Amino acid sequence: MAGTETDRPTPKVAPVQLGPITVPVPVMLSPMAGVTNWPFRLLCRQYGPDGLYVGEMVTARALVARNPKAFRLCRFAPQEKVRSLQLYGVDPQIMEQATRMVVDAGWADHIDMNFGCPVPKVTRHGGGSALPWKTDLFAELVHRVVAVCSPAGIPVTAKIRVGIDHQHETFLEAAHIAQEEGCAAVTLHARTTAEYYGGHADWDRIAQLVQAVDIPVFGNGDIWTAEDALAMFAQTGCAGVAIGRGCQGRPWLFADIAAALAGSPERQEPTLGQVGAIMARHARLLAEFYDGDERMAVHDMRKHVAWYLKGFAVGGQVRRDFMACESLEELDRCIADLDQDMPYPRAVAGKPRGRVRYAKKVRLPYGWLDSRTTTHQERETLFGNDPMDASY
Ligand SMILES: Cc1cc2nc3c(=O)[nH]c(=O)nc-3n(C[C@H](O)[C@H](O)[C@H](O)COP(=O)(O)O)c2cc1C
Repeated sequence: MAGTETDRPTPKVAPVQLGPITVPVPVMLSPMAGVTNWPFRLLCRQYGPDGLYVGEMVTARALVARNPKAFRLCRFAPQEKVRSLQLYGVDPQIMEQATRMVVDAGWADHIDMNFGCPVPKVTRHGGGSALPWKTDLFAELVHRVVAVCSPAGIPVTAKIRVGIDHQHETFLEAAHIAQEEGCAAVTLHARTTAEYYGGHADWDRIAQLVQAVDIPVFGNGDIWTAEDALAMFAQTGCAGVAIGRGCQGRPWLFADIAAALAGSPERQEPTLGQVGAIMARHARLLAEFYDGDERMAVHDMRKHVAWYLKGFAVGGQVRRDFMACESLEELDRCIADLDQDMPYPRAVAGKPRGRVRYAKKVRLPYGWLDSRTTTHQERETLFGNDPMDASY
């Protein structure tokens, strides 16, 4: 299932140290809610280098409330050498409690903190990418999580955006605070909240951050091909790269990146039959993830199927048949009906996929931008409203 790419100079990429963890190849599967559960991580990891494959965000409040769905998101496959778990929250006390649960239960080897989420139901409550604007709260959250993780030898990283918009940028300050408070690295998604997933990530901001802090910076945004990954390393000097949407329906992108970093021109170009086999495996892993519930697995597969089939000449009826599946058997039948020899649609490989739009409007708590620190009143309101389900 391989093709080749033209030769390009391969940037020098070194292992990254996160506390006691050495990441031999600094390539990260970026956390994606509803996507990067252990089945998908396993697929990416199977193809990819010895990097970091981060779980979708777990809401601290849901964890503390012992919500079974949140617990499910904390599961890892035995093959996952470094278990990277992402936590989301706005209340330092709740975040500390959730971290303590994770650490005491020995669920993770690395904790990433989500300060990048742009969705209105999160930013409206001061969470995700809205949070670094309040430097006191940001510092306190990082401080408390690091204080719990540090004695257990668990490195903490922070994932941030450029800011709320270009009039309210936060990344430089946030990264400095993260560094001061003991974060082992930061990941910068080089867009603002207002930019959401629209336009292009501004890699110059990644380069700027690399110059500004001493801890490793993982660059993130718009890596669609292995060549993009090489280009981000070369253009920004980042220590590592994080890949989100580019691997939706293409877990083999990590094989391309591993090859590119090793100076090899080999690229994966699976036929539709080979993609079908990956879909079948993905669905079975999801059934395991959902404790044998095939229906949940095939429903969850719908979005993945749409991504897997992207660009292939597969008619509307076939796609609709996939969407109507209620069991693995039905899914297998749809997969078997595909034209097994159809070649990989090269034309879509390097194109954006998944979300690509700008925010309609940035939602923030009332008066949020008036000051860089939180008032007592603001905290009372924020912490009472911290959503249980903060999924993207
Ligand atoms: C469907 C979806 C879910 C996401 N969920 C998370 C999440 O749980 N935590 C997080 O920090 N970022 C999340 N992100 C953001 C990605 O990790 C990444 O920062 C963003 O997609 C930009 O990288 P890309 O251009 O490679 O996709 C999500 C993005 C998408 C598209």
